[in-house]
Amino acid sequence: MSRPDLRARVEAARAQRERDGLLRRPRTCEVTPDGQRLVDGRTLVDFCGNDYLGLARHPDLMAALSRAAAVEGVGTGAAHLVSGHRGEHAALEEELADWTGRERAVLFSTGVMANLGALQALLGAGGLPGRGDALCVQDRLNHASLIDGAQLAGAELRRYPHADAEAAARQLDARPDHPALLATDGVFSMDGDVAPLAALATLCRKRHALFYVDDAHGLGVLGTQGAGSVAAAGLDATQVPVLMGTLGKALGTAGAFVAGDAALTEAIVQFARPYIYTTAMPAALAAATRASLRLVRADADGRREQLAANIARFRLGAGQLGLPVMPSSTAIQPLLIGPAEGALSASRALEAAGFLVVAIRPPTVPQGAARLRITLSAAHTPDQIDALLDALGRLPGPAGTAAV
Ligand SMILES: Cc1ncc(COP(=O)(O)O)c(C=O)c1O
Repeated sequence: MSRPDLRARVEAARAQRERDGLLRRPRTCEVTPDGQRLVDGRTLVDFCGNDYLGLARHPDLMAALSRAAAVEGVGTGAAHLVSGHRGEHAALEEELADWTGRERAVLFSTGVMANLGALQALLGAGGLPGRGDALCVQDRLNHASLIDGAQLAGAELRRYPHADAEAAARQLDARPDHPALLATDGVFSMDGDVAPLAALATLCRKRHALFYVDDAHGLGVLGTQGAGSVAAAGLDATQVPVLMGTLGKALGTAGAFVAGDAALTEAIVQFARPYIYTTAMPAALAAATRASLRLVRADADGRREQLAANIARFRLGAGQLGLPVMPSSTAIQPLLIGPAEGALSASRALEAAGFLVVAIRPPTVPQGAARLRITLSAAHTPDQIDALLDALGRLPGPAGTAAV
């Protein structure tokens, strides 16, 4: 039998990744009563999560979750289009649409599924003839799920250099006769910078392309009422017809949504397989997210302001230390290290000093661009930030020159 062995092939790929020093393993992080991380028996301050407003452990969210679970049970037991769509989901969808200024929002169980589903539905022509002729133009640093969504749709994927709106226009111009969608992260997940949204919106309008923004890291944090990077750029639903957001980051729960006009969102409900063929998220989670959304919109305790102060404190201190901070004004403040091994050893040294900052290595970031993806939260205290800066200043790599 000459059939190549799949098991041997995946083992060879794994062994290669090990030789490259790029193997990854999930580590068990428990949560201490005061919200810190407990890893291998040591308490660490988490500087790599996405709970930007510190809402994941907010008592209102936890109370809403348990109240709703007491009535609804834990699992929904069915997909949205069967019997899994509850009142909590419907109310959350309406509130998300209102928050983002769009006609309708459709819930997904995760952000990855939202991007896979929405792009598959919008680019894939609902399986009608024509599938495969759509063009999807994307920033080179977009989240993996946007890239995968275009591929799932069978669309032609053309990528442009990071944040280069003129190059994006050229990619659209390469196929002027094909239906097109341009997708970008609003805030780039590994770099923290904001996409040139106004320029991209203009070129999409001129070239009749649908503009799609994944605002996983902008929602809750940027713009009035935390309505995100699109709102902060002064753009509305006409200029950005499709807005995707996640609930597991600033909102502190889990799940995602895609918001847009009635026709586009209806297409998603009809054609997005990661929406149709999966169990609806627990209704209690939708209830907790509604509680979170109320807090995020009102921001009565000034969490966005606190986060902004924490970002400013970190950047000022990092600048004084000469650390290789990247040009980001958001909660994502990566330190570019370069070699994967350098990022790993910096991460280990920080852990020894009491901080959890995971090294981000290829293929998540380009070769030679490994980094410490430091993230800030409104829940961090000034003392914790100063202590992190102190530990960073002691690293032989980023603070000096060796690893940069
Ligand atoms: C830009 C972006 N989009 C989508 C996702 C996926 O979201 P989720 O974790 O809810 O699957 C992420 C997650 O990190 C992200 O950074």
